[in-house]
Amino acid sequence: MPEISLETDRLRLRPWRAADSDAFAALNADPDVMRYFPATLTRAQSDAMIARAVEKAEAGGICFQPVEEKKTGAFLGFVGLNRPVPDVPVPETFEIGWRLARHAWGKGFATEAARCWLRFGFETLHLREIISFTTVSNVPSRRVMARLGMSEDPSGAFAHPALPEAHPLRDHVLYRLAVPEDHLPRSA
Ligand SMILES: CC(C)(COP(=O)(O)OP(=O)(O)OC[C@H]1O[C@@H](n2cnc3c(N)ncnc32)[C@H](O)[C@@H]1OP(=O)(O)O)[C@@H](O)C(=O)NCCC(=O)NCCS
Repeated sequence: MPEISLETDRLRLRPWRAADSDAFAALNADPDVMRYFPATLTRAQSDAMIARAVEKAEAGGICFQPVEEKKTGAFLGFVGLNRPVPDVPVPETFEIGWRLARHAWGKGFATEAARCWLRFGFETLHLREIISFTTVSNVPSRRVMARLGMSEDPSGAFAHPALPEAHPLRDHVLYRLAVPEDHLPRSA
């Protein structure tokens, strides 16, 4: 798959650039942004995340991609599709996920970008289902899932294997979205 660039009314969903490194490190170091993760990220960890995404994209894979505001050109964070890491006990398909800088919250940007990625997943990748998951208490993220029309599957709830027992973020919820009827391939 060649590099993916998508557009919505207000946003550009584009490949990573070296120049994203500062703004990405700043949001990963913000305790509010990382409130539902075990820890904030160091500069090296943040850069390594970009490097992994670039490597995956260069190999033709799909990964979370930057969101840029068209009006200002500002890097806002990432939204996109990704293959969950193998040890997370979720259905075998792509997840949709998001992480935006605080200044970009409350404007509908995550939902707008995610709708575009869902369409890409169903129309271009021909996925039958897209999932999302988060720690139980991450209400802002669950609200994005609900706005996208995803449904919580209580039977898919799981304890995150990377977190120790009794860790407050260990319990996760699973949301699912099946391909809409009008995106199903027509039978011959
Ligand atoms: C999860 C996260 C992306 C949600 O951000 P968000 O701003 O709440 O979600 P959206 O971008 O979809 O914006 C929706 C909000 O913008 C408001 N809004 C304002 N202008 C809008 C517009 N023009 N269009 C749509 N919504 C608009 C909506 O009313 C809604 O507010 P509400 O939730 O108070 O009702 C954000 O909290 C985040 O980055 N968190 C840190 C990282 C994280 O936890 N990621 C998830 C890990 S699983």
